[in-house]
Amino acid sequence: MKKSEFRRQEDILSPVRSREDLLFEDSLRPRSFDEFIGQETVKTNLQIFIEAARRRQEALDHVLLYGPPGLGKTSLAYLIAREMGVGLKPTSGPVIERAGDLSAILTNLQEREILFIDEIHRLHPSVEEILYSAMEDFSLDIVIGQGPAARSHKLRLKKFTLIGATTRAGRITPPLRSRFGIIHRLDYYQEEDLVKIIERSAAILGVEVNDEGAQQIARRSRGTPRVANRLLRRVRDYAEVKGDGRITGPGALEALDMMEVDSLGLDEVDRKILQTIIENFNGGPVGINTIAAAIDEEKDTIESIYEPFLMRIGFLERTLRGRKVTAKAYQHLGYSLFSEPQKKLFKTPEEEE
Ligand SMILES: Nc1ncnc2c1ncn2[C@@H]1O[C@H](COP(=O)(O)OP(=O)(O)OP(=O)(O)O)[C@@H](O)[C@H]1O
Ligand SMILES: [Mg+2]
Repeated sequence: MKKSEFRRQEDILSPVRSREDLLFEDSLRPRSFDEFIGQETVKTNLQIFIEAARRRQEALDHVLLYGPPGLGKTSLAYLIAREMGVGLKPTSGPVIERAGDLSAILTNLQEREILFIDEIHRLHPSVEEILYSAMEDFSLDIVIGQGPAARSHKLRLKKFTLIGATTRAGRITPPLRSRFGIIHRLDYYQEEDLVKIIERSAAILGVEVNDEGAQQIARRSRGTPRVANRLLRRVRDYAEVKGDGRITGPGALEALDMMEVDSLGLDEVDRKILQTIIENFNGGPVGINTIAAAIDEEKDTIESIYEPFLMRIGFLERTLRGRKVTAKAYQHLGYSLFSEPQKKLFKTPEEEE
């Protein structure tokens, strides 16, 4: 077999959902709180609030879930609906174009039903405003007529629950944020939780994987269940073609090495960020805008997807004067800490040509 057949795809480690993930996510999504692994504090809290709301036969308080992509926000929203025994209407911030669209959705909600707004930080301000009274006292202000004759009318809504999800908690405006009674941040998963998630997914996919095999995959999954599930599928392909289909420690390691998956799960962009700071800015500190411009990525993407992971594994530090690469990162990427600037800081005009 040629190595290139199992060369890693450009985005195999990306926590952002790919087209291929879409095919599998429904079947791999946890169906009960027992199946939802890890995030114990979030789970325990939600279970208590759900139980209390159910006993009182009331709608659950509005819930805001935030954290990096692929950690289970959407899964949790569906789980909450299931446990509450109510329906869920999914939509997302950028999809709702006009205030009228949201009003229509809200007036159609049933008692206790859940409205799930993904990427809620991307709601248009005029749309977001509608939510304030809807969330607070379940009413909509409708203006009838125009000009001096216009009259405002209050429309009552059924008592619903809004679940908002976002990767950018900092982008939620204070008036919106203050209307959520339950706010939880999802954090990256521990390796042992990822092992459990991989074992569960393997059972659903009908793949045999032993502990060591699951561990090798978990270690490279950047704390993210979506990445763990994706790597599992790729390693399975390898095990089926190269072996008897069972995933063992050495087999998984061989497959992951073949796919050039970094031993800590760093992807292309992580490396680019670190290398750029090391080579062009002498390790930092350097401002986020400068980094974004230097690697031609959105500042937003860096802040919501890459930076949290790099900080979590202790590769990047945030200081008052900007981002700094740590000694640990220098080591992992094979740079010496003690040499002078790794590359020239500036190109001379001749070199620019
Ligand atoms: N705690 C968990 N236990 C088991 N599987 C999980 C868990 N969290 C997430 N997953 C798996 O990871 C996949 C991605 O999770 P999900 O779509 O809920 O993430 P998300 O936070 O909504 O991501 P995004 O920010 O991209 O919308 C799910 O399909 C599910 O299979
Ligand atoms: Mg989601």
